Amino acid sequence: MPIGSGLFVTFEGGEGAGKSTQIRLLADALRERGHTVLTTREPGGSPGAEAVRHVLLSGAAQEFGVRMEAILFAAARSDHVEEVIRPALMKGLVVICDRFMDSSRVYQGVTGNLDPAFIEALERVAVNGVVPDCTIVFDLPAAMGLERVRRRAGGTALSAGEVAGLDRFEQEEIETHEKRREAFLDIAAADPARCHVVDASVAASDIAGAVLAIVEPLLPAMSNGLDAEPRA
Ligand code: TYD
Repeated sequence: MPIGSGLFVTFEGGEGAGKSTQIRLLADALRERGHTVLTTREPGGSPGAEAVRHVLLSGAAQEFGVRMEAILFAAARSDHVEEVIRPALMKGLVVICDRFMDSSRVYQGVTGNLDPAFIEALERVAVNGVVPDCTIVFDLPAAMGLERVRRRAGGTALSAGEVAGLDRFEQEEIETHEKRREAFLDIAAADPARCHVVDASVAASDIAGAVLAIVEPLLPAMSNGLDAEPRA
């Protein structure tokens, strides 16, 4: 159900998929077309949610268990939705969010082993009707994503042979990433009207083209924001 006259787009996928670069490219392309765009991210995106982000990503909540973490992600999401996302959609903006409810389904639900009914209940409360109009799922082999994350962190890149020879913990990490990848693909398969899978292993310019081709047809159905005039 659309909220206001805006368009709500979320980007999902594992780490190292290049979401932030692509969000920037999509926002630029839409602004060039005269749309008013708000880019935001989770966990965070509002002052209250940013405070919770710190608790979550610092690992401070980890010792209290995955259930507690899931509730904190939901609390942050609720604040973000009510303070930032819903008001922006009501004003007719295009809202692009780096991760949203599908990340909780995958990270806390699937790899966190939480009961799907519990995750669903939290999701219902947190999103309160603000479901994305379009979710772009960035798909990438786990080893490739992990390597990109490593390179970004300044570590040495791995050759294909080294990837095959990862130690037990690294291998476990790959397995977890692969599980998440499958879970994102399952979500996309179950909700094809909302979710679009994009191959994130190709060149950034090709990914940007694929993303724009998905989002562009959804734009005419909305007004072009408050301060933007559609270009002739
Ligand atoms: P972030 O530094 O924003 O990384 P990324 O570039 O991967 O988005 O970290 C967000 C982390 O939080 C990421 O590991 C996924 C996790 N996360 C969840 O576990 N559940 C959630 O609901 C969300 C939104 C994120």
